[in-house]
Amino acid sequence: MLVPLGAAGGRSRWTVNHGGQIYAVFVHDGEIVVTDGQCPHRRGPLHEGIVRDGAIVCPWHWYAFDLATGSCRTAEMYALRRYRVVLADGEAFAEIPSSARRSWSAILRAHAASESSADGQ
Ligand code: FES
Repeated sequence: MLVPLGAAGGRSRWTVNHGGQIYAVFVHDGEIVVTDGQCPHRRGPLHEGIVRDGAIVCPWHWYAFDLATGSCRTAEMYALRRYRVVLADGEAFAEIPSSARRSWSAILRAHAASESSADGQ
């Protein structure tokens, strides 16, 4: 499924919400990179992180994910999902496979986990 990313409009990062899932969009070195919006560690908001040396650094525990590959530079057991970007008629779209979409129960479990992480539990 192709998901429209909207215009950058001078932004270097933003999020796109689609099908109950948040995706992070980064403009890095002139390229659009689309990843899951939540960190694979504890679901921190990646678009609020810092881009440094080609990696997005999560604002919650500072794990760094390579924007080119999605691999985690901090703990190799984690990897960030990236999505192919397709340009058509001057617009950018993310190619989201149906397997990337989560069920409502998975979304609610993720939300509950992020709430307890935010509370420091
Ligand atoms: S939630 Fe992102 S590093 Fe922990």
